[in-house]
Amino acid sequence: MARKFFVGGNFKMNPSTREQKKVLVNTLNSASVDQDVEVVIAPPALYVIPVKETLRGDFKVAAQNCYEKPSGAFTGEISPAQLVDAGIPYVILGHSERRTLFHETSEQVAAKTCAAISAGLSVILCVGETLQEREAEKTKEVVESQLKPVVAALSEADWSKVVIAYEPVWAIGTGKVATSAQAQEAHADIRAYLSTAVSASVAENTRIIYGGSVNAGNCKELGSQKDVDGFLVGGASLKPEFVEIINAKK
Ligand code: G3P
Repeated sequence: MARKFFVGGNFKMNPSTREQKKVLVNTLNSASVDQDVEVVIAPPALYVIPVKETLRGDFKVAAQNCYEKPSGAFTGEISPAQLVDAGIPYVILGHSERRTLFHETSEQVAAKTCAAISAGLSVILCVGETLQEREAEKTKEVVESQLKPVVAALSEADWSKVVIAYEPVWAIGTGKVATSAQAQEAHADIRAYLSTAVSASVAENTRIIYGGSVNAGNCKELGSQKDVDGFLVGGASLKPEFVEIINAKK
């Protein structure tokens, strides 16, 4: 079965005003896009519902994070059940900024992933190595160590709700995009790991998308790689060129 191309827009803590949000959504709503692509937009938490209410019907929204408990005394957190209750279908989990700035461990990311899927969400699961780890030739080892707790927490059926985003930390927000060969190698390694750790079917059917300085100039080459099934886009998702990235396969 062909894997449906997937393009996510991670707005991170942007835009900073409702007016800017309106402009972003208007640009997306008027865009001519490839209908064979699944598009998911992840605004800041405060804007997810208003964006969902005004965004074109063929695009979906995502939260940028959630907690692993269904409810309770967890000030500042949002539960998977609350996202489902709000009609939000996706959540990004394990983003490198959550891991580095907010000290989320792979075990916590696994617990969040399991809780999110159990509640009825689909998950964009982020993994990726630092520059130091790449230079030490530990990329495969690091990414597998990030995936291992998730493999232990999920059933085989759960993987139909997971899109893996390979985001080398050294490419995020730096303009230093991975080469197509680097992305293809990392994605192929992830697919091979899924095949041995879960099943050949999960390996074949799980979309593995690339994130890290994707833009209109590099998306076609990256998107042409056998094991690159799409993108998770940060900075460029806030610009009109995001439409070109969505149409990278056209
Ligand atoms: O989640 C996507 C993000 O980490 C990539 O950021 O700005 O390098 O596209 P950027």
